[in-house]
Amino acid sequence: MATPPEPEPFSLTQLHSGIGNKVRKSYIQSIVFSCRRNSCILLPMNKPVILTGLRANNDLHIGNYLGALLPIIDMARRHADDYQINLFVPDLHSFTTPIDHSQLQAGIMNNLRVFAAAGLPLDNPNIHIYRQSYVPAHSELTIILNSFTGFGEMSRMTQFKDKLDLRKIPRSQGESARQDSFSANPKNAFQQNHVSMGLFDYPVLMAADILLYGAIYVPVGDDQKQHLEFTRDIAERMNSKFGELFIVPKSAKEQHEFFGKDQGLRIRDLLDPAKKMSKSDASGKGVIFLNDTPEQAHKKIQSATTDSLGEIKYDYTTQPGISNLLDILELFGGRKHEFIGSKQYGPLKEAVAILTGQFLEDFQTKLEMVDTKALEQKLAMSETAMCKIAETILAKVQKAVGLRT
Ligand code: TYM
Repeated sequence: MATPPEPEPFSLTQLHSGIGNKVRKSYIQSIVFSCRRNSCILLPMNKPVILTGLRANNDLHIGNYLGALLPIIDMARRHADDYQINLFVPDLHSFTTPIDHSQLQAGIMNNLRVFAAAGLPLDNPNIHIYRQSYVPAHSELTIILNSFTGFGEMSRMTQFKDKLDLRKIPRSQGESARQDSFSANPKNAFQQNHVSMGLFDYPVLMAADILLYGAIYVPVGDDQKQHLEFTRDIAERMNSKFGELFIVPKSAKEQHEFFGKDQGLRIRDLLDPAKKMSKSDASGKGVIFLNDTPEQAHKKIQSATTDSLGEIKYDYTTQPGISNLLDILELFGGRKHEFIGSKQYGPLKEAVAILTGQFLEDFQTKLEMVDTKALEQKLAMSETAMCKIAETILAKVQKAVGLRT
């Protein structure tokens, strides 16, 4: 059989100059390396990019899984030929809040294994896995974007305020009192809450993570929506100042239409359904971790906070605990309508516990079976390719701001 002709090599300058043109505006200019006959050739691929990241703290939970991992893996399984899928570990984000640094490497590798166990098809060339810190352009673009980001803009970020614990100051005293308390006593804030510059600045790093690859769809949980909005803002700001530099990610509404019900999820803490299920919950009693045993999960679900209304309704205002359980049930394959209207809460809890237990068992078996060698090979290939893509966009930005000719 005749060998197909080699594609023409595509220079970085050509890629660079083509990125802003109108035809490609809604698509990311992505590049793959096609290694044939020992020579690497850059191939342009006009595929829209879907991207997300999960911090490596070795304690991923079902909120992370259902809110971010499942939508992107579902997309990767069904539509990888139509999209470029980037799933990465934002390792530089890992210590925006204090961690045990001796555990970080293990946490990073565990996250990557979780991606594979969750069903990411590693053999597909349109799918990329990488570590943020292995692509230096993320940090470099962050430093540039910092100078176009307002201090006030960052201090309004809900996640930052939550960690700072400004919520201790009642809203009735007004937003400015809450801000003033931080300005008046920033040293205290760090000592008491370990609020670092890294935490303050991390939405900018997140924007760089997204904009370097021109991602248009970014499946994230509800807690990251504000950061996504900021990413759109900074991209538009830079574009209006310097011309078409960045592809602006789709709005939350469009993302929602694209991903359906899984986009913008907020799985609640089982004990305190007013707040999201979170890694930073100290007790872990309201959180189902991906490495919990089915028995541990069963116990946590049985102890989940409900209410005394005595009838199951899907209504987050009056029955947040029950509604959260109904959502978990449905996301793990159950049917919430079979329970709505029932006067007993016990059978719902039992059904959620069974489905969650089955999920955990199945997931953990898959985790044990992950081919680490194949994973490492994929990682090395992806990181080389991602460095090239990211460097191309960074070079364009450096030129626009006057750092390069
Ligand atoms: P992280 O690591 O805190 O969480 C990873 C993803 O899980 C989602 N999530 C939830 N979804 C539903 N219910 C919950 N209870 C819940 N808890 C967490 C988060 O919304 C997130 O999508 N900054 C990000 C990581 C990141 C990133 C990015 C994401 C860095 N750069 C670029 C997308 C694009 C974070 O800390 O997520």
